[in-house]
Amino acid sequence: MLPERVNIIEVGPRDGLQNEAGTIALADKVELINRLSKAGYSHIEAGSFVSPKWVPQMADSGEVFNSIKRAAGVTYSALTPNERGLDAALEAGADCVAVFAAASEGFSQKNINCSIEQSIERFTPVLQRAQAAKVPVRAYVSCVIGCPYDGAIDSAQVASVASRLQQLGCYEISLGDTIGVGTPERVKEMVNAVSQQVPVQQLAIHCHDTYGQALANIYAALQCGIATVDSSVAGLGGCPYAQGASGNVATEDVVYMLQGMGIDCGLDLQQVIDAGNFISQRLGRRNGSKVAAAMAPNS
Ligand code: HMG
Ligand code: MG
Repeated sequence: MLPERVNIIEVGPRDGLQNEAGTIALADKVELINRLSKAGYSHIEAGSFVSPKWVPQMADSGEVFNSIKRAAGVTYSALTPNERGLDAALEAGADCVAVFAAASEGFSQKNINCSIEQSIERFTPVLQRAQAAKVPVRAYVSCVIGCPYDGAIDSAQVASVASRLQQLGCYEISLGDTIGVGTPERVKEMVNAVSQQVPVQQLAIHCHDTYGQALANIYAALQCGIATVDSSVAGLGGCPYAQGASGNVATEDVVYMLQGMGIDCGLDLQQVIDAGNFISQRLGRRNGSKVAAAMAPNS
């Protein structure tokens, strides 16, 4: 059964922009978030408090948080890999923070320089302190289908990491097909395995579109009862520590699919398209959303 309503988490300003090689002006990041804020989202991931040596593009996240015009009803969140990141996120007034682990040891080492076990230990005080500050904590599990270093991933391993993060107190676990290798039946198998250990209401799906499978995989996840979908305006995105991780699924394409199926997501498609066109133009690239291209005035 498909959900009646889907919550879309916009990750473009973080997952979308973190991978850009060129410098993006602070004003452009702020303008993107301000435009997205008018489109009807309830949650926008606005930045990342990670080491600037690892991800230089997110170094100005504090300034981003301080400069955006916050819209009522929108949660503005940020990635926090450790306590230092949490301190910076709290200082910037993030409404929600996200820790990020992996289902594979190879990706954990390359992305956050520690084992899965060490990452959970590192997140424990982050959770405790965020909860004390009444800031909800989301979690990501990367490489839920395949890993660029370790190959195919067993769903039992995904379920185990997801369950530990949920037990630590994360309110939602976003399952990331980081390199976009999933196909629908495989995604269903993985989601069903994870939902044996974590209630499906606490799961989200996070698809990169490297192999063009993202929309089909999201549909498969919805059929399993997932009702929260991460996506990125204009299909921006990638992960600097996962070669081949292309953009996330484009928000515009997800909205079009949901609207076509009569599923409410609360978003104004045209406003999302406009925001995507704005940032694509600033980045000097074509908008990666097929829906945005199809709905362009002269198409
Ligand atoms: P490390 O080198 O093991 O840690 O990195 P460290 O504690 O030794 O710190 C190294 C340096 O970074 C030190 O500076 C620290 O002070 C500094 P130095 O003394 O050398 O001048 N540092 C920080 N600076 C600012 N903010 C911080 C912070 N922490 C340390 N929070 C660490 C470990 C986790 C910090 C590093 O590996 C890191 O930042 N990794 C982040 C990688 C990343 O952001 N990847 C992309 C996001 S994940 C993703 O995209 C996947 C996702 O979308 C889901 C999916 O698609 O699957 C979420
Ligand atoms: Mg991602």
